Parts: sequence; C-alpha cells; structure tokens
Amino acid sequence: MRTLIAYLSYSGNTKETAELIAGNLAADGDAADMHRIGIDPPVSASAYDLIFIGAFTWEMGATPDEVKDFVLEVGYKPDNVALFGTGDTQFGGDELFCLAVDKLARFYQSRWDGLKIEQSPRGSQEFIVKNWLKGVLHDVKNLT
Ligand SMILES: Cc1cc2nc3c(=O)[nH]c(=O)nc-3n(C[C@H](O)[C@H](O)[C@H](O)COP(=O)(O)O)c2cc1C
Repeated sequence: MRTLIAYLSYSGNTKETAELIAGNLAADGDAADMHRIGIDPPVSASAYDLIFIGAFTWEMGATPDEVKDFVLEVGYKPDNVALFGTGDTQFGGDELFCLAVDKLARFYQSRWDGLKIEQSPRGSQEFIVKNWLKGVLHDVKNLT
C-alpha cells in the first residue's frame, strides 16, 4: 500500500502527530512518504492508495494558507483522504477546536471523521491516534 502523510506544522504538534501515524504504520510494515507542506516539492497524489493530510487550526478556526495552497496544488479531490490536526481549546472552545480538520474533511467528503488532537499527541492522546488509525486502515484494507 502506498501511503502519503502531508502535514503543516509551525510549533511541532502536528508534526509529532504525523510522525506518530508514520511510526504506527511502520510498525505494521507500511512505510509512508512524508510531505512537509510548503517545504517539499509537489507530490503526485494519484500515486497513493491512502493520503493523510494534517493541519493545525489558525486565527478563529481558519485553515492555514499553506494547506489551502497544497489542496490547490493537488488539483483534484482524491476519495482516499483522511484528515488529522492539532488545536487548542483555549482559542475559542469546542466550537473552534481543530475546525480546519472539519473543514478539510467536508471538502474532501472524507469517509472518516477527522482526528483532532489537543496540542501534543504524546502521552494519553497517543491511544486516540492509534485507535483512529486502526479504523482508517481497517476500512482501507477492506476496500483494496
Ligand atoms: C494565533 C493562533 C490562533 C489559533 N487559533 C486556534 C483555533 O481557532 N482553534 C484551535 O483549535 N487552535 C487554535 N490555535 C492553536 C494551534 O492550532 C495549536 O497550538 C496547534 O497545535 C499548533 O500546531 P503546530 O504545533 O503543528 O504548529 C491557535 C494558535 C495561535 C498561535
């Protein structure tokens, strides 16, 4: 299975989440390609069986511009996108928490609820990442 993990991270939380996803995939024998949005050269999304896109949430629930540019760069809506992201409930409570994840999941009509992590995924939230990933992989492996 060819898997892409594309993510944007300023202060490291979304990067940590991306790395946790990659680590769990690797433990199952599935190596993923990592793509740092806004840094790495463009990817060919159609080459992948599964695409993870990770984004933090910005000013009042906004999706960062770099992520919007990435979406445009991909140029179509793959039907195999799973969304994840980090946020902080201190910036507007539950209503704005990780809103970029919901917006992206809606845009891609993702078949999976987005994974939302409060700041760093390390510690107890690692299990949330693991369980979410298990659900995504279960569906993908049943489809392929
Ligand atoms: C100016 C600013 C605005 C933010 N607005 C939100 C927000 O509306 N919703 C949210 O869930 N998190 C918000 N956050 C929190 C970040 O999304 C959170 O710290 C995230 O983990 C950062 O990801 P990164 O470490 O990968 O850069 C905001 C942070 C900053 C600095």
